[in-house]
Amino acid sequence: MKESVKLNVVPLSPAIGVEVRGLDATKNIPKREAPTLRRIWAENSILLLRNQRLTENQQFLYAKIFGEVAERVRPPVEKRSYRADPDNPMQLVTNAVDNNGRPLGSLGDGEMWFHTDKCYVRKPHRASFLYAVEIPRQGGHTKFASLYRGYQNLPQILKNKLMGRKVLQMYDYTKTEPGDLDQPLENILHYWQPAFVTNPDTGRKAVYISRLMSRLIEGYSDVESQSIINDVSDIVEQSENIYEHVWTPGDIIIWDNLSCLHARTDWPRDQRRTLRRVTIKGRELS
Ligand SMILES: [Fe+2]
Repeated sequence: MKESVKLNVVPLSPAIGVEVRGLDATKNIPKREAPTLRRIWAENSILLLRNQRLTENQQFLYAKIFGEVAERVRPPVEKRSYRADPDNPMQLVTNAVDNNGRPLGSLGDGEMWFHTDKCYVRKPHRASFLYAVEIPRQGGHTKFASLYRGYQNLPQILKNKLMGRKVLQMYDYTKTEPGDLDQPLENILHYWQPAFVTNPDTGRKAVYISRLMSRLIEGYSDVESQSIINDVSDIVEQSENIYEHVWTPGDIIIWDNLSCLHARTDWPRDQRRTLRRVTIKGRELS
């Protein structure tokens, strides 16, 4: 029988996230430790391991502790541009280019607003893993905001406006701001999701709204919807609700797309930033 892994759990911020120390993700994590790790992750929304040296295959094996690895979601045909290795479930998030100037990965440069991955498909990917390979000297941080606390902090008047409603989640791959409703929806990946979701692991409620990908609230006009989305986002994005991660190569973070948002800060264009991302499958939300 394998020796039990000693888990040393350290909070990353008062709002969200823990670091687990003393765990080597290249080793097989004993089956009986996996549910503990999953519970720690679900309760804290993000789980960081530092100083890891993972091959792609080892990253897949670590991800499989938490669920089934998901396929990449492809944009509608009209929105497709060149993407390196689109069928590999391991996505290279990088601004690096090859000798011909073609991107070696995707989501290359620049700031990205708060969002949650794949909220615009019927079964959003439950969790995402980022493993840091190459990190700029300044910037390129990832910020995480708790949607559990976001829900708790909503004033009753906002909760009443959203109770039982659906939210149109959409993402236009060509833009870094909310999707445009003037173009046909079939040109954009989109899905109506519940405004509030109950986390299947913890039973806790979260508000499933983000500034980048939520676009309309069922039963409200465009202007009213935008006002509600802005009000919710202002509450969710309050600094005391956030953990900002400054990456070091060898860090791996898994986050729960149902209970936190993430955003990316800018960095100088001449500095390379490369992380490997894999996601695990989720189910229909309720
Ligand atoms: Fe993302």
